[in-house]
Amino acid sequence: MNTAVAKLLPIFIRRRPENFRRGPQTFRAPFRPLLHRHLLAGNSTLSARSQNPEILAWKTGRSSRYTAGDAWHNDVSCDPEPIWGSFLRATRLPEIGGGDTAFTNLYLAYESFSDPIKRLLDGLTAIHDGRQAWTAGYGAEPDPGQTFPASEHPVVARHPFSGCRFLFVNPAFTSHIVQLTRAESDALLQLLYRHVEKHLAFQTRVHWTPDTLFFWDHWATQHQAVWDYYPFEHGGERVSAFLGFPPRQA
Ligand SMILES: [Fe+2]
Repeated sequence: MNTAVAKLLPIFIRRRPENFRRGPQTFRAPFRPLLHRHLLAGNSTLSARSQNPEILAWKTGRSSRYTAGDAWHNDVSCDPEPIWGSFLRATRLPEIGGGDTAFTNLYLAYESFSDPIKRLLDGLTAIHDGRQAWTAGYGAEPDPGQTFPASEHPVVARHPFSGCRFLFVNPAFTSHIVQLTRAESDALLQLLYRHVEKHLAFQTRVHWTPDTLFFWDHWATQHQAVWDYYPFEHGGERVSAFLGFPPRQA
């Protein structure tokens, strides 16, 4: 399954299996023991407090100032061992439709660069900072005595299951490239982000239905939640797993 997901990236199951209908306990079962605990799982910033730290719940509605994930990103790339895969289901769909989730393929993003750009990127590392995404982005503060994580990851990594190289920076979490001056880093990151954004050929959009279940590989994709249903409500739950090691240099 790991290899299939690493090649296919987002997988969506239109008719959710029976054991996923019963609730969060069985929803979490396939991922034991490396379930991720999101630092915002109990934070009102996401508007839907989860009773279980291994389930990240969110809700977007009339009073929301933003929706979770409304920019291209890899989830929680600030972790030392960023999450690899997630199951995601909707608990509420907007009455007028919409609320798709868009995905983009980071294997293709890397492969489509010219050779000189590939040579420039290979060997670079970047800092991914939770404060940039959650404090600057959402206004969320860590719990007392805690700090949001920041980690250094390769700009180009090799996927452990597919063996392919993928680009691993995103505008939500990546603050700077370590080996460059700040001006060089800002300019290069903008080039990389525009490259990911503008190539529709790398992207797909998934439409939700009540029984849809997503599974996707976070390392080789970015995703974005499309907020086109205001003022209606959209909500869901996610369970994520990490691998016990980080993305490694290609
Ligand atoms: Fe996300």
